[in-house]
Order: sequence, then C-alpha cells, then structure tokens
Amino acid sequence: MSNLLHIDSSIQGDQSVSREITAAFADAWKLANPAGGYVYRDLGADPLPHIDATYYLAVQTPAEQRTEVQHEAWQAAKPVIDEVLAADVILLGSPMYNFSIPSALKAWIDRIAVRPFFVDQETGVGALTGKRVVVATSRGGSYAPGTPRESFDFQEPYLRAVFSMIGLDQDLSFVHTELTLAHVVPEMAQLRDLAVSSKELAHETVRKLAAA
Ligand SMILES: Cc1cc2nc3c(=O)[nH]c(=O)nc-3n(C[C@H](O)[C@H](O)[C@H](O)COP(=O)(O)O)c2cc1C
Repeated sequence: MSNLLHIDSSIQGDQSVSREITAAFADAWKLANPAGGYVYRDLGADPLPHIDATYYLAVQTPAEQRTEVQHEAWQAAKPVIDEVLAADVILLGSPMYNFSIPSALKAWIDRIAVRPFFVDQETGVGALTGKRVVVATSRGGSYAPGTPRESFDFQEPYLRAVFSMIGLDQDLSFVHTELTLAHVVPEMAQLRDLAVSSKELAHETVRKLAAA
C-alpha cells in the first residue's frame, strides 16, 4: 500500500491555482491507488510556528541526551515528521511569493531539513531517500527558460537544493502553472491565452504523474 502526503501552502483558499492542481493530482492518485493511504495538511489555513533555538538544539542532540524542553520541542514537531516518514509520495502545493516559497512552507521545511534526515555524505542515502516528491507551483508571471525573469526563480532551485540535502531529490518533479495574474492584471491581458495553456498543461501533467 502506498501513502500520499498532500500539503498545500497557498493563502488564497478556493481561489488558489496551486490548490486546484494538487487536488487534481490527489484525485487522480486516489483513483490509481484505491487502497492507498492519504493525509492532508493545510499550511495556508493552519500555519506552523517558526522553529526556535530549542528545536534547533533538540534535533542536533541524541534523543537520550535531550533536556526536558528539547524533548518537548521534538515531540511538538513529531506529527509533522511522522507524516513525512510515513509517506511514499509527497505532494506539495507551492505558490511563488516574492520569487520564492511561502513562509508557511518554509516553516514546514525547517522542521524536516534537519540533521537526523541529512543524507550520508559517503553513501548519499538518508532516512527520507526513496520518497517521490511532486511540487505544483503557481506563479503570477513566467520564469520559463528564455523569459526576462528566468533568473528570478528562487523557488524551484531552492527546493531542489534543500531537498537534495535530505534525499528528497531522487524522484522529484515540478509542475509549474504560470502567468496566473494575467487574468487579474490588465497590463498582462495579452498573456491570458498563455495562462490558460499553462494551467491546462499542468492538469494534463499531474494526471500523468499520478497515474505513473
Ligand atoms: C505575497 C505574494 C507574493 C507574490 N509574489 C510573486 C512573485 O514574486 N512573482 C510572481 O510571479 N507572482 C507573485 N505572486 C502571485 C502569485 O504567485 C500567484 O497569484 C499565484 O497564483 C499564487 O498561488 P495560488 O493561486 O496557489 O494562491 C505573489 C502573490 C502573493 C500573495
């Protein structure tokens, strides 16, 4: 049996494009995996607090040497960590905010991109290695190769870098829906057809990825 962990991080609720795309993946995945497990976390609606120094020390300290407060900090993060450990497929919805990821998604990453999950420098393997990750991004503009803002994309390169540290880069796919602001920004009106095509392609891509 395979387990899907589905995480959204848009603040835009029903209006969110990344939520629409992750939902399409999840629906198709459930059809392809009727006996599969499914867990949903909404970082947009229920954000995690930022990590603090106690948690940072706790993750660097062997369990048996942790102080009481460090133990409590680890226990508080454990539900988030256990969801990741139990998942075979991690589906992330990540809007682009200020050329990068939402701070709510960063707070989630700060809990799992920690020493216990770093890949071994020699073997390249860690506790999270082998999981499949699908990231559905949504961006107001376009950062595709050859576009003027290509080098402003700190979203996909950042996620690739941080996931490589913890072994989540072995089976990592990105599905970008671009130009989402073309429908609301008058100056982008001429880009609306491209925006429609981008979303259609994202739907088609996640359907294929979910069935694979
Ligand atoms: C706080 C904030 C910052 C944003 N920054 C960018 C940006 O840097 N580049 C961009 O192309 N779009 C930016 N946008 C637009 C969003 O990426 C776009 O609306 C996207 O569709 C949001 O994802 P969602 O539809 O899943 O909520 C920003 C939107 C918000 C709310």
